[in-house]
Amino acid sequence: MATVETRSLTKRFDDITAVDAIDLTVREGEFLVLLGPSGSGKTTLLRMIAGLETPTSGDVLVGGRIVTSLPPRAHNMAMVFQSYALYPHLTVAGNIAFPLEAQHMHYKTIASKVKWAATLFGIDHLLTRKPRELSGGERQRVALARAVVRDPVTFLLDEPLSNLDAKLRASARDELKQIQRRLGTTTIYVTHDQIEALALGDRVAVLDHGGMRQLDTPQQVYLHPADRFVATFIGSPPMNLIASDNVETGFRPEHFLPRELFDNDAQLELFPVSITRIEYLGADRLVYGLLEPPQPPVKVISRIPCTANVALQAGTRRLFAVRLVDLCRFDARSGASLGTVPNAP
Ligand SMILES: Nc1ncnc2c1ncn2[C@@H]1O[C@H](COP(=O)(O)OP(=O)(O)OP(=O)(O)O)[C@@H](O)[C@H]1O
Ligand SMILES: [Mg+2]
Repeated sequence: MATVETRSLTKRFDDITAVDAIDLTVREGEFLVLLGPSGSGKTTLLRMIAGLETPTSGDVLVGGRIVTSLPPRAHNMAMVFQSYALYPHLTVAGNIAFPLEAQHMHYKTIASKVKWAATLFGIDHLLTRKPRELSGGERQRVALARAVVRDPVTFLLDEPLSNLDAKLRASARDELKQIQRRLGTTTIYVTHDQIEALALGDRVAVLDHGGMRQLDTPQQVYLHPADRFVATFIGSPPMNLIASDNVETGFRPEHFLPRELFDNDAQLELFPVSITRIEYLGADRLVYGLLEPPQPPVKVISRIPCTANVALQAGTRRLFAVRLVDLCRFDARSGASLGTVPNAP
């Protein structure tokens, strides 16, 4: 069984709590993404799960068995590091074969496994090259092939696509997801890129300052964020937030549209807006504006798809609206979600 579980897992470095009492259960065959800003504890959490870092307290369980104090070997996980370390003096084939040679496997088995893993990541034509003769993206693929070849029970991937350009990244993301599906290997994937997290994860765990803010499906995390941090960290441009009394009301730019784009009988909250700037992005327009009375003067952003036929001009006033069901509410002090608007249909 390849379930991975952490129980109140904590790591302190002097006065920094890098990972703060994290309870996490990764299901068999699941693709779980750890998402959080730089310094939120993603790598430290992953290293403790791999057995490479000793927790200050708490436990790691693999297949229901406590492995906290056992050496990395007993965790049987393959980790691709954020700074993937290839052996510079070995060829691509030598790098991929390395973990198998350490297991004293027969050379014919090794050769066929190397060929298989290299083909999986489309680098089988590079097997005789040295790492310095590869692009950053190719090196990253070698590191992934080296992780896969061991046939581990779990993959731990720490930002494995960070060195690829935007286009290659999108296709590598798609490939990686397909490969993971095919192999069915439980995977924990670290990223600070929220788009990548939503695209890849069966579930997404959102970390901040070592704590886990939410663990849920991409849809839930996006549409029903557990708190203000999750709401604003995920989504670009971020969720609009309006403070009044003890409650903050939030709504996504794509839910905030000119009134006439909604049905007449839709249940809406209305917002008069003075439009300050319009940005044309091809598929969408971003409309920047300032709320007008009776709303507080807050800057807001609307994302209007190019398919919506509505003429807008900077320097004019316009009535915008959000469906009541698309409003989120947060406690102004703690930031915790208060759920949707009462009486929303
Ligand atoms: N060996 C260490 N000694 C002291 N502090 C450390 C050590 N490793 C990590 N930290 C601290 O722990 C916190 C979490 O670091 P970690 O590397 O886990 O973050 P991260 O989420 O992976 O960030 P990034 O996205 O930048 O890779 C940071 O404040 C970091 O400075
Ligand atoms: Mg890191």
